[in-house]
Amino acid sequence: MQKLIEFDEKNKVFHLHNDKISYLFGIEEGGYLSHLYFGKRVFGYHGQLRYPRVDRGFSGNLPGSLDRTYSLDSLLQEYSGTGACDYRTPALDLQNEDGSYAVRLVYQGHKITAGKPKLPGLPAAYATDEEAQTLAVTLKDELTGVTVTLLYTIFKDLAIIARSAKVTNAGSSKVALKKVASMQMDLLRQDMDVISLPGAHANERHLEREKIGQGRKVFESRRGASSHQMNSFIAVLEHKADEFSGDVYGFNLVYSGNHSFEIEKDQFEQTRIVAGINDFNFEWQLDAGESFQTPEVLLAFSSHGLNEMSQNYHQLIREHIVRGKFKHREREILVNNWEATYFDFNEDKLKTIVDEAKELGIEMFVLDDGWFGKRDNDNTSLGDWSVYAKKFPNGLKHFADYVHAQGLKFGLWFEPEMISHESELYKEHPEYLMQVPERIPSPSRDQYVLDLTQKAVRENIVAQLSALLDEGYIDYIKWDMNRHMSDVYSVALPKEKQGEVYHRYMLGLYEVLETLTTKYPDVLWEGCSGGGGRFDTGYAYYMPQSWTSDNTDALARQTIQYGTSLVYPPSVFTAHVSAVPNHQTGRITPFKTRGAVAMSAVFGYELDLTKLTVEEKQAVKEQVSLYKKIRPLVQFGDFIRLKNPALGDQCAWMFVAKDKSEALVFVFGRLVQAQPTLTKTKLAGLAEAKVYEEVTSKAKATGSELMELGFYDPVVRHDFSAQMYHFKAID
Ligand code: GLA
Repeated sequence: MQKLIEFDEKNKVFHLHNDKISYLFGIEEGGYLSHLYFGKRVFGYHGQLRYPRVDRGFSGNLPGSLDRTYSLDSLLQEYSGTGACDYRTPALDLQNEDGSYAVRLVYQGHKITAGKPKLPGLPAAYATDEEAQTLAVTLKDELTGVTVTLLYTIFKDLAIIARSAKVTNAGSSKVALKKVASMQMDLLRQDMDVISLPGAHANERHLEREKIGQGRKVFESRRGASSHQMNSFIAVLEHKADEFSGDVYGFNLVYSGNHSFEIEKDQFEQTRIVAGINDFNFEWQLDAGESFQTPEVLLAFSSHGLNEMSQNYHQLIREHIVRGKFKHREREILVNNWEATYFDFNEDKLKTIVDEAKELGIEMFVLDDGWFGKRDNDNTSLGDWSVYAKKFPNGLKHFADYVHAQGLKFGLWFEPEMISHESELYKEHPEYLMQVPERIPSPSRDQYVLDLTQKAVRENIVAQLSALLDEGYIDYIKWDMNRHMSDVYSVALPKEKQGEVYHRYMLGLYEVLETLTTKYPDVLWEGCSGGGGRFDTGYAYYMPQSWTSDNTDALARQTIQYGTSLVYPPSVFTAHVSAVPNHQTGRITPFKTRGAVAMSAVFGYELDLTKLTVEEKQAVKEQVSLYKKIRPLVQFGDFIRLKNPALGDQCAWMFVAKDKSEALVFVFGRLVQAQPTLTKTKLAGLAEAKVYEEVTSKAKATGSELMELGFYDPVVRHDFSAQMYHFKAID
């Protein structure tokens, strides 16, 4: 395999490259690592871009040096410590046994290997020895013996580098880690924007863009989950960059807990980006000989705007994050009973929905919340994962057998990380509930978090789920998490380790997920957290798909799915057609539009099929049969955003087959005007010279016509319209 990583001994420069990107950094005087370049591929490196020496007032110099032109306060660095003269936000902050906070990280050695090492206990991108190479650079603090190993993996054919850090206490005294970022990158460029994906429950991942100003800005979650409120991703991009042009750097953390993305524009207008686990209430005791491994950041570069960055992320998540037999398998069209019945159901009522689902060609029935313990509302029974006999007098298997007999797969909802006060589990094990001693814990949705740092708690979850899964009738599991963490404390840990609870919880969760997904490889796992509250790459390592949002309104979903697609491919997000007026917004949108939005991802229904009109049933049949045809294109094709709903009165996106032989285009209208402005849709990603025919209208055009001229959108006379076009190459 070609060499993807080189070390220039003379210039002391590392060069990671493939056909798309180059990443360069060097060892500067004193052994400090200096960032040189991340961008489009360069052929060779001849010593340019060494950081210029300038005497700057109040920017101190290297210890023991008389050179006033060399300061860590201005040098573009790779991974900074504390206690010297760099006043910018550090990547590593720790307290030594003597109480001091200093850590100076200087180059000690490096190693280049084929492939990509696993990160112990953590989800991470994976690759074979033919697909990637990894550089491990070790830095050392001479006084204490603390070492930091920076891992850089470059993939053969992706514009992405995976970065993480491992801190080892190779000295003889204790240290307390206060902050350990996964990566840092310092950029010289000045006129930059930052994009983040903030939101709320039922309103996730809105694309927000702002100018990077001087000072420090943090995009973070302190909720114990990657959260609806701020997704674990930012992009830093040229102010002039858009969907199809300009330089973009993407940062995505492969982690489902507290995260932080700091951006600091310093006194010289240089921008530092530091990303990793949030240091909020974080402190990790590292005894002599112990190590701490950070999760990894997927660092993307595109010189052609946001779409190219997204496509690299999509490819990486599909091929190097999602695992197991469902990775390349078309996902079933399902119907979920949540919005159809909420808690008000029994076996007979559900059977009528199953019958209808069979009739309409739907492939899986998912039994949502309310099937276990004594659960008639959300105040009770979390932790008691055995069937509610009142609703299923003949047991759950009896019902699952019925579903299977209709030719449908059977899926089941769980919320394994939670406990209700009113539960058998709480009666038996009150110590499983996470709370601070002597304080009344805060309820949220009337439920509490289980302390997953306790081994017994993890074993209990695995045992309860295994008991059901061993019966062999469950084809799919929806793994939910319907509150965020509070009262963070573990009775299993001593006082000085309470700063480890947030992260130990995540390690505990990952251990449980690894155990269960390995033990039951035939089960399809869908992630969920009150919709998209844990929509992150870490979760996708275990869950091939995730519920995008509790908001099923077709208009709101356009914004949510548009933002989500910045990082995550439609093959990992699920979307359902629901009833109108919509349960979250009260809005009435056409059935066709609800179908088009949901068909733009992993498709399903979330309504009472028995209540549909004859026309609606016919529409469902048509949608189901259409989706079965377009499913490979939607789930495995390239996704391209065309029109941002936040910037106009339309939203549009398309899917293109890898070989460009066909494309599906969705154009959504929002509010109509009496005197409409005429609009065009221009496509992207097609083969320029190929002739395409639109399947319904039979109109023909070359790829270049469709991309350069585009076509007029029809004038429609109702709100919330949807147009779908299916182009096939005919030559
Ligand atoms: C969460 C999920 C919903 C549903 C409910 C059940 O909100 O996102 O889809 O499963 O829980 O309580």
